[in-house]
Amino acid sequence: MTSPQPRPRLHQPKRTVSIIGTGSYVPERVLTNAELEKSVETSDEWIVSRTGIKERRIAADDEHTSDLASKAALAALENAGITADEIDLILVATVTPDMFFPSTACFVQAKIGAKNAACFDLSAACSGFLYALEVAQQFITSHTYNTILVIGADKLSSIVDWKDRNTCVLFGDGAGAAVLRHRGGSHGVIATHMGSNGDLADILYIPGGGCRHPISAENVDQRLNSIKMNGKETYKQAVNAMLTAANTVLEKSGLKFEDLSCIIPHQANLRIIEAIAGRMGVPMDRFMINLDRFGNTSAAAVAIALDEAHRTGRMQIGDYVLLVVFGGGLTWASSVIQW
Ligand code: ACO
Repeated sequence: MTSPQPRPRLHQPKRTVSIIGTGSYVPERVLTNAELEKSVETSDEWIVSRTGIKERRIAADDEHTSDLASKAALAALENAGITADEIDLILVATVTPDMFFPSTACFVQAKIGAKNAACFDLSAACSGFLYALEVAQQFITSHTYNTILVIGADKLSSIVDWKDRNTCVLFGDGAGAAVLRHRGGSHGVIATHMGSNGDLADILYIPGGGCRHPISAENVDQRLNSIKMNGKETYKQAVNAMLTAANTVLEKSGLKFEDLSCIIPHQANLRIIEAIAGRMGVPMDRFMINLDRFGNTSAAAVAIALDEAHRTGRMQIGDYVLLVVFGGGLTWASSVIQW
């Protein structure tokens, strides 16, 4: 008896991954700087001059992260011209999941009727959407899945300490989504880069609610369940990390800053964006900015900005686009896409 011959491995060439649709959603309620002046000692002038933020959106009490995410997802599916049952995987990047479990991605699956999808959440704070984009890309290039829905969604109003003027003026709620698929041709994600530095976890974090400081009346009294931030250190780290991330991904792509038609940065603070624009030598009008209207919506921020840039025609077919983000962890990430 002859032993069976080993089967030849199928050669599957690496597939390019394209964003075939985008969507976003922000809650209706607008919270202006003037309203914040009534609840903490601050001023519109201070907030605008230090951050560029004029207003932010706040979700209703019964509007959860999965609701924001599902609305953004449905807009992205419509934009892509596909139906929910075509989705193989749903990835939700968030630091404000509806619950510890099930994942917010599972709630989104039920809400949009994506019955053929596997679902999980990903935690990389404000960098989450680009981390999820990279994970999705790996699943598609490896031929594991064909169509992936990537969502960045956060209801930061649920974890903000509304008595802390250092943080409460910065954040807002929202969601952005993208549908990824291999479309053929050379356009799509060209290169990505991700990095982290766990040594600096304590400059931006929520100490309570997890297993270190489980929910208790005492921990809630001490406001351990809300965002703590060392603003100055976060600012410094954000500028350095985003610049390094941008340079690294451009080097991988074989491109220069002048080749980029549009740069979509994390929407945390206008001064951070101005600082990186100055150090890149790129004019500010090349940057997509919407933080004046939405504040910092964490994982949603770059996703909402991507959707707005797409829908307002900031990117034309063939354009090179850079996305670059920074967040708690610390985490950072960048991605160059040929649109
Ligand atoms: N209104 C009025 N005064 C304020 C406010 C406010 N909302 N917040 C702080 N101040 C006061 C401070 O108490 C301080 O007063 P003091 O001098 O009497 O002590 C003074 O303003 C100056 O404070 P600084 O912290 O020096 O102000 P700074 O110019 O650094 O700006 C800011 C603060 C806007 C938070 C800045 O450090 C920053 O943007 N950091 C990065 C924050 C960020 O982007 N976080 C998120 C990134 S990652 C993610 O998205 C999760």
